[in-house]
Amino acid sequence: MLLLSLSLSHYSSNAADFCVADLEIGFQTPSGFPCKNPSFVTASDFKYSGLVTGGNTTNINKVSIIRAFVQQFPGLNGLGMGAGRLDIEPGGAISAHTHWYASEMIYVVEGTVTAGFVSGVATNTVYLNKLSKGEIMIFPQGLVHFQVNTGTETAVVLATYGSEDPGTQIISPALFGNNLPSLLVEKATNIDEAEVKKLKVLLGGSG
Ligand SMILES: *[C@@H]1O[C@H](CO)[C@@H](O)[C@H](O)[C@H]1NC(C)=O
Repeated sequence: MLLLSLSLSHYSSNAADFCVADLEIGFQTPSGFPCKNPSFVTASDFKYSGLVTGGNTTNINKVSIIRAFVQQFPGLNGLGMGAGRLDIEPGGAISAHTHWYASEMIYVVEGTVTAGFVSGVATNTVYLNKLSKGEIMIFPQGLVHFQVNTGTETAVVLATYGSEDPGTQIISPALFGNNLPSLLVEKATNIDEAEVKKLKVLLGGSG
């Protein structure tokens, strides 16, 4: 009986050690993806090389965003953490956005970044910092935040998140990058219709 319970507890502690996502066999649920069969898991499931180089920054924001979330890095499944690499050209910006499932921490690998977040509606207080190479800043879960390259060289930023799938909504495209009628966008934002139409063209929206 003692042996049996020892072997059972040994088994269950192994079973709980990790759950590398099998992205093929099922849907993501609030508790994550189903697990890959542990006997097929290898060291390479816990390594991800996607952040080694930056992506293409030829776009209106002059940025590339490379994610290491559970969809890209299945080993993160259930671990409550994720990462990303941001490359931002001078004058470029990761525009205002939120992550509703996660707080974020950034580490400036190269360059100079001015970053901030805005508190809730009670005060709309802005918390702004100019970050140099090696500095970190945190962004509390759910709050609108942004990062701007205010230096003269390409900024490289490592972002980490308290979720393997932080949930992201980028404010400008959410408001102007779709077919919500311009007049309704004006009502919803207090931005006049002519400006709304201009922003829709810029962000690929219509209406
Ligand atoms: C980067 O993206 C731009 C715009 O989509 C494209 O024209 C250009 O060829 C891309 N550059 C590289 C190196 O892929």
